[in-house]
Amino acid sequence: MTVTGTSAPTSAPGPPRETARAARILARCHEIAKHTETAGQITRTFLSPPMHGVHRLLRGWMEAAGMSTNVDAAGNFRGVYPASREPARRIILGSHLDSVPNAGAFDGVLGVVMAVAVVEALENSLPISLEVIGFSEEEGVRFRRPFLGSLAVIGRLDAADLALTDAEGITVADAIRNFGLDPVRISDAKLSANAAAYLELHIEQGPVLEHVEQIARRVGHGSFENSARGLAAQQRRAASTLGVVETIVGQSRLLFTFQGQANHAGTTPMPLRRDALAAAAEWIVAVETMGRQVPGLVATVGRLEADPGASNVISSLVRATLDVRHPDDAKRAEAVVDLIANADAAAHARQVLLTHETLLEQPAVQMNADLVRLLQNAVTSAGHVPRVMPSGAGHDAMILAPQLPSVMLFLPSPGGLSHHPEEAVLAEDIEAALQTVLEFLRMVSHDKALTNA
Ligand code: GLV
Ligand code: MN
Ligand code: MN
Repeated sequence: MTVTGTSAPTSAPGPPRETARAARILARCHEIAKHTETAGQITRTFLSPPMHGVHRLLRGWMEAAGMSTNVDAAGNFRGVYPASREPARRIILGSHLDSVPNAGAFDGVLGVVMAVAVVEALENSLPISLEVIGFSEEEGVRFRRPFLGSLAVIGRLDAADLALTDAEGITVADAIRNFGLDPVRISDAKLSANAAAYLELHIEQGPVLEHVEQIARRVGHGSFENSARGLAAQQRRAASTLGVVETIVGQSRLLFTFQGQANHAGTTPMPLRRDALAAAAEWIVAVETMGRQVPGLVATVGRLEADPGASNVISSLVRATLDVRHPDDAKRAEAVVDLIANADAAAHARQVLLTHETLLEQPAVQMNADLVRLLQNAVTSAGHVPRVMPSGAGHDAMILAPQLPSVMLFLPSPGGLSHHPEEAVLAEDIEAALQTVLEFLRMVSHDKALTNA
């Protein structure tokens, strides 16, 4: 695909305002957040009952905006806004609707709600159609396998995925049936043939953009406040810094099982124990140590289950997850091999048996270079400041990218906080991102390679 963006602004750059539309986007995210599996928290896993309520809300907003909606067999909520004339190419906008346990209100959801707001904000229909997808699953919480929704959309959700089981022994196929959908029709979820590009809006989930903005603001202080540089700095203070993602780092996820022997905590001498939890604990510290020592590496044990789980019983069985990420796939693979060896050593020292299985092996993915340039131009043209950056978090865009030219726009995360109930986003950044996407779509509409169906 060739994209030839120009950068003539549709509106004069100026201070972003907390407009009514940004306030409405925030309110809608909070409304979606009420649909949760756990009262008092936001937890919404793949096709759990509260997802019905989320679909009801999206259906109402999208249909009021003139979109036709449907739920595909993988539970992705989809809405299409037609082009000014058909046949036409299609731009996909979206993100995911599931969450981690005790999540914030914006990870994933913001990208879907903003995509609907983009359609609402269009003054004229475009020579391209728009499809908004709220992916059913991205986090991998319920089945320990992330991206179930986007894998279905690229036709890669296979029989082995459908047979995965959750903690209750329910398979993915059964979860789909229980939600009122038909897993036999999973191939109908595939992208339409006219899909031309994917743009995902997401909070950054880290501190980089906020930090860059603080530095830009500091430039405006001092004696040169009235100089040309000072005026430029003031202009920057009025603008938002938005991230244009060029790479999404690769990730490995594994499940380790330490099998020891349960015994009495009061009577079993220390040298005679086969303590699965002690082995896992030693290994977890090794995971943290390696993450601190290897530049660019992050390594996390995020979940630990210990059986039988009583204070006076030596632990017989531990299941522990491992999440390893690095921008360089070879370095990530090397770290995984070393961490398996560390687990083996910690287990062996206690006569504990170790097994492991790989749940995810996701290479780093480049975003489409033409779209990265176009989105950078769109940010600038809308009066804001683009920052080209990698993403340490995984996103649906990394699944779509090998099949469809893809790019992501990041909004700053106040405090760098995400996967946390206090996750936030600023109304002024929402407005800036909305202006940017409208500009991006205007540029895309002038691209003959994209608009000729
Ligand atoms: C998605 O949130 C991830 O774990 O990167
Ligand atoms: Mn997430
Ligand atoms: Mn996300």
